[in-house]
Amino acid sequence: MSWCPECRRVGPTVTREDTARAQRTWAAGEHPVAREVERRTLGSDFGADGYATLSEVDELARILELGPRRWLLDVGAGQGWPGLYLARQTGCTVVLTDLPFAGLAAAASRSTREGLEGRAWGLVAGGEALPLRPAAFDAVVHTDVLCCLGPKLATLQATRRALRPGGHTAFSVIYPTPGLPAAEARRAIEAGPPHCGLRTSYPSLLHSAGFVGIEEHNLTSDYLVTATAKLDEAQRFADEMIEMLGRQEFDEMQAKRRLAVRAIADGLLRRSLFIAQRPRRAPRASETAFCPRSAAL
Ligand SMILES: C[S@@+](CC[C@H](N)C(=O)[O-])C[C@H]1O[C@@H](n2cnc3c(N)ncnc32)[C@H](O)[C@@H]1O
Repeated sequence: MSWCPECRRVGPTVTREDTARAQRTWAAGEHPVAREVERRTLGSDFGADGYATLSEVDELARILELGPRRWLLDVGAGQGWPGLYLARQTGCTVVLTDLPFAGLAAAASRSTREGLEGRAWGLVAGGEALPLRPAAFDAVVHTDVLCCLGPKLATLQATRRALRPGGHTAFSVIYPTPGLPAAEARRAIEAGPPHCGLRTSYPSLLHSAGFVGIEEHNLTSDYLVTATAKLDEAQRFADEMIEMLGRQEFDEMQAKRRLAVRAIADGLLRRSLFIAQRPRRAPRASETAFCPRSAAL
């Protein structure tokens, strides 16, 4: 995998609260037990950190029409899931971006093992400020990333700018079920990823960011199956996981997973796939109207 020239210098110093847990996990490296749990729960072995299963990612390849000579941007790619896998399977070229250097460093090793040099690039950057040439990408993907960061609208705007006119984005995200009473909404937010709370809706954010052709596909039933499997499989390998992460980290991770499984089963948390397109022509002013409810995100 190739690097933006600045990344090696600034990468390892980047630390933010949003990414601290991911960094601690990745510090464990490509641990065989973590990979075994991943294979049993998601079907992948690229160091996935969300709920995107192998079959879901294969579907993303089809939706985004990936193939040779197509450029894919994977925002919040962690250790390379799903971007590296998509590059390997479809022949596309991928740019992986994330904030912690450790995940992208693991992705670089995997890229070399997969022989993807020249077709995989790493860039340490926040999704909200992507230092990329406008309109350079045919497709943008991010799996379970917007629920882990604050600047959701700015990230969607940055991905829209990165797409060529007519290019598509497809992303999964976890969020509280709309219309919950306040106490249940608080429970959902506590049980979900760190920034899963939403004052607006994803279709509204996508519209405000200048996307058209917005579709939502509800993946919540798969999310419940995967979240339950992650809890159970990690428990099955508890001794090895504790050796890898430390007792406190493991216990906190499992407690959080129990909360999440209960919240999903009780209908408080949802996971959806959104698909949208950058317009082929310049948008009219009314299509990019500023949405005041999105401003705080
Ligand atoms: C749940 S993980 C998903 C990782 C990977 N896409 C996957 O499915 O395995 C969320 C990712 O979002 C990244 N992230 C958090 N804040 C970010 C930001 N402002 N910009 C880009 N990525 C961010 C985290 O570092 C982490 O890699």
